[in-house]
Amino acid sequence: MMSGLVACFAIQTGLVYSDDTAYQNAPLTSLALEGRELWMDHNCQTCHQIYGFGGFLGPDLTNAAARLTRDRIEQVLTKGSLQMPAFGFSSRQIAAMESYLVALNDTGIGQARKDIPVPAQEIFAALDKHSAGNPMSEPARGAYDKFKTICASCHTPFRATPLGQFLAVDLSDVHSRLSESEIRKVLSEGRPAKGMIITPLDQSEQDGMLAFLEWLGTHRQSLMEKVGEPKPLESLPWWEFR
Ligand code: HEC
Ligand code: HEC
Repeated sequence: MMSGLVACFAIQTGLVYSDDTAYQNAPLTSLALEGRELWMDHNCQTCHQIYGFGGFLGPDLTNAAARLTRDRIEQVLTKGSLQMPAFGFSSRQIAAMESYLVALNDTGIGQARKDIPVPAQEIFAALDKHSAGNPMSEPARGAYDKFKTICASCHTPFRATPLGQFLAVDLSDVHSRLSESEIRKVLSEGRPAKGMIITPLDQSEQDGMLAFLEWLGTHRQSLMEKVGEPKPLESLPWWEFR
């Protein structure tokens, strides 16, 4: 029995030490290493998690690169936000941090979740496709481009985006909640107290954005059918969940 146990121990040890999954990811580039250095120097992890470890004031950033636009990363690293200090990063530092976040994202999915939200890129691809057959007006099209680069970092159509404690609402049904003048007020002032800090939209930008939101609302039902629901984790072929 003793030699059986020793043999099991030896086999187990052999398996553990020959498992090279940890080395499969590409090593960090020098730019990404610079980003990691900045990450450590500025104690980002006191507020943010990586792979679920770290502070909980801000969101987990393991997969931030997959959901954030360059504009959002730039905005938050220079101007900060309601609860995040303004670090005033230079463009070199922003590029380094972005490169580090991209490398982190490439390592896999960072945190256990109940379900996997449909990625924003897929939602916008569905919108693009739908708009080919159901054209938007010219001003709405312009506003849609703006929406994708600025608003989408916080507002993803058809799903609430987790931003720490700030949950940016789905705007596809905003017309049922707010009147036109109330929407205009948000577009010109933001909602700083709730975490929505934006460059105010001028009159014609507001007109376009209202037209885009109107289009989004009109096609909400058929778009939601195309986009689909978040996938429950149990549906993944992972032995842990069977
Ligand atoms: C004092 C706490 C704090 C520190 C330190 C901090 N952050 Fe944040 N950060 C936050 C909070 C809170 C948010 C949530 C979003 C908001 O307020 O708009 C956030 C948001 C972000 C976002 C956008 C996330 C999203 O989903 O939109 C990025 C990227 C980010 N932080 C990166 C960093 C980096 C890089 C550092 C270090 C250089 C850092 N943060 C340091 C609190 C912090
Ligand atoms: C930094 C994140 C952020 C960005 C960028 C942002 N928003 Fe918001 N927005 C929010 C949050 C958070 C709320 C919810 C505030 C609340 O609960 O009162 C909100 C609320 C709104 C509302 C009111 C919704 C309602 O039902 O009360 C509108 C309209 C809106 N945003 C439009 C926009 C548009 C258009 C853009 C792009 C020009 C934009 N937002 C960019 C975070 C953001």
